[in-house]
Amino acid sequence: MRLIFLGAPGAGKGTIASAIGTERGLPQVSTGDLFREAVKNGTELGLRVKGIMERGELVPDELTVALVRERLGRPDTAKGYILDGFPRTIPQAEALAAFQRIDGAINFRCGDEVVVRRLSGRRICRSCGAIYHVENMPPRREGVCDRCGGELYIRDDYRLESIRNRLRVYREQTEPLIGWYRGRGLLHDIDSEQTVEKSLEQLRPLLAGLRS
Ligand code: AP5
Ligand code: MG
Ligand code: ZN
Repeated sequence: MRLIFLGAPGAGKGTIASAIGTERGLPQVSTGDLFREAVKNGTELGLRVKGIMERGELVPDELTVALVRERLGRPDTAKGYILDGFPRTIPQAEALAAFQRIDGAINFRCGDEVVVRRLSGRRICRSCGAIYHVENMPPRREGVCDRCGGELYIRDDYRLESIRNRLRVYREQTEPLIGWYRGRGLLHDIDSEQTVEKSLEQLRPLLAGLRS
């Protein structure tokens, strides 16, 4: 099954992609994670995207599409995948449609206020990437990953002005994709303002009904 997770920053795409990906054996392909990995390793790509990400702007389409094309060429995606945070522009969606047939695009509906609250409490494991929230999903020991014992950190693009910019960029460049996928009969909305379990309860029957 080939899925796209659409939604504002902080809507919960990464959290749900990780949970449902584990349940269904689908790899989670997050362009944000791939770019952060490149920045951490100091690669040429990483050097190009570091400032762009800190400001909350979008990485140019050519670079992003090339990265995804390479990633989807690897054998673990042969039976399907979850694209988390890609596509984010109409040209990216068009480029993807030219080489992949998608089974569904899930739209994580979530208002700005909830998003800001979620992002301000988010913590991520430096070793395995697990996502926590200081109030909603706290780790058993503060600052330490339940899964692997790794150190939890706050992402660089969490600063209020960067979040505001990411939300503006989302409205201008990514939100039009909702209509784009709806027009192709591929869009499915979920209410992402409630708990993680509630999102999963909406998603499971929805995925069971998708042809793939
Ligand atoms: P990316 O990493 O994709 O960031 P984003 O889309 O802004 O989304 P986030 O990862 O911040 O939020 P999320 O929806 O995954 O929420 P999460 O599950 O973490 O992109 C980063 C940057 O990379 C971009 O700004 C851009 O520069 C670049 N980039 C990436 N893709 C690109 C592309 N295609 N084109 C161009 N540039 C690109 O949840 C947030 C918090 O809420 C967590 O703490 C979590 O524990 C908590 N939470 C989640 N769900 C719930 C719930 N249901 N109830 C309670 N708490 C919850
Ligand atoms: Mg994410
Ligand atoms: Zn961990």
